[in-house]
Amino acid sequence: MLLGCGFVRVMFFYVLILRFIFIVRTAKQISTTGVSSSCARRDWQHCISTGVNMARIASMDNVFVRVKEKQYGPFSPRELRAMIDKGKFGKNDLIWSEEQDQWITATDFNARRYIFPSGDAAEQRPKRVIAVGGGKGGVGKTVFTSSLGVGLASLGKDVVMVDADLGGANLHTVMGILEPKYTFFDFYTMAVEDIKDIVLPTPVERLKLISGACGTLGLANPKYQQKLKFIRQLRTIEADFILLDLGAGSSFNVIDFFLAADDGIVVTNPEPMAIQECFNFIKICLLRRLQLAFRSNERVMAILESDELNRPGRIHIPMTEVLKKVGEIDPGAAGMMEEVLAAHRPKLILNMVMEKDDIKEGIAIQAAAAELLSIEVEYLGFITYDQNVRSAVRELKPFLLQNPLSSASQDLAKLISVKILGQSTINSFFEKRKLRKQLMEQRAEYPEISLHQQAPICSIKCFYWGDCDYQNGGHPCSVRHLEPIFKQ
Ligand SMILES: Nc1ncnc2c1ncn2[C@@H]1O[C@H](COP(=O)(O)OP(=O)(O)O)[C@@H](O)[C@H]1O
Ligand SMILES: [Mg+2]
Repeated sequence: MLLGCGFVRVMFFYVLILRFIFIVRTAKQISTTGVSSSCARRDWQHCISTGVNMARIASMDNVFVRVKEKQYGPFSPRELRAMIDKGKFGKNDLIWSEEQDQWITATDFNARRYIFPSGDAAEQRPKRVIAVGGGKGGVGKTVFTSSLGVGLASLGKDVVMVDADLGGANLHTVMGILEPKYTFFDFYTMAVEDIKDIVLPTPVERLKLISGACGTLGLANPKYQQKLKFIRQLRTIEADFILLDLGAGSSFNVIDFFLAADDGIVVTNPEPMAIQECFNFIKICLLRRLQLAFRSNERVMAILESDELNRPGRIHIPMTEVLKKVGEIDPGAAGMMEEVLAAHRPKLILNMVMEKDDIKEGIAIQAAAAELLSIEVEYLGFITYDQNVRSAVRELKPFLLQNPLSSASQDLAKLISVKILGQSTINSFFEKRKLRKQLMEQRAEYPEISLHQQAPICSIKCFYWGDCDYQNGGHPCSVRHLEPIFKQ
């Protein structure tokens, strides 16, 4: 263990020194020649003609920047955004424009909206929108999202969970909120003007919720622009993390939310059907990403919309072939496509793992995505199948709070500290201890919910079960005035 840590430290300092040498060298290069000749020239007009829109953040060149008379870089768009989030780079600082061959302020930069997503991001607190999706229903997306929210909030982060399952919202129920005061529906129908007005408190400090609009079927199909507007508005909420709990299936509703987030996590269980739907979800997401990126390039779109690529089930043409075909008709677009593929990195979580061998399923998805789709799926880890999760759901509590020591909770704690917060092995050890302590305290204060006294959920124990016109499976009862509700 000690040896391992020592080795990791030596490697860490080695990488740090290499990076330092690199920065000094490039800074020297800029000060003598204005800008490094190795910085690839990008013709933005060409980007427009190849139809790259959504994916431009991915295809944007690495850039040199000048802050307080000092030059740094080159930085990737992701690195630049991290600097903006940390307040190290603002819109009045300078970026080297290859187009204009001079330093310009970030505000005048051609691709500025892709690094400052909401215009003034530099002045806002850092935030990460994480979408949790996956093809199949019942694989644990909602219970995972709720406990992820609890875990991050317990570690001092401000978190807003959003129930984006427009067809079957139930995140509020998992949080023990039976009748949410406001839902997404109020925002959608403009009953409230500002999205911040529908953010509800939860029993956990720092954790807030935007409840889904349960039972309002008209909502299940918002237009693409409405979804983008919703995400844009979400980004204006003060929070470190915004977690989107998505619905099942691979409809555009689910996929557009998944693609609009900063990070997309796909949850699956190790059963063959779930694995199949999970891979299909990853594939459809990628195709939608490419189609959005190249929608104004007719010839590329003809390839992307071809039957052999879109037919459900087995993949009939690997992405390497697609790239080759695109390269034959438009080499520039093929180059762009390579960049979109490199930047598209969904994350994967295997839930309800029962035995060691199950973990191989995650690796299998990774391998298939690399071979057939030419993308890297980042495997975040697994969560054990645990009866505590089931009892937590019945008690209307997130499982991380119901039993912080259960195996599922420990798996999640590790995942949060190492993969979501990016802690090193040593820090993650302390972070997990801190989390456990916080959870134990929160748990003692968490309200007990008695379904018999409060708004009941549809239940087989209901007096009217099987003979109820309003029975809608899971949502708080709308006929509870017709006492008695529960059979003895
Ligand atoms: N790690 C787990 N161990 C045991 N049961 C689980 C686990 N994760 C989820 N479940 C069960 O699966 C059910 C469905 O989970 P849910 O989060 O509602 O799925 P989804 O949102 O994907 O439709 C939960 O009610 C819970 O009982
Ligand atoms: Mg769900």
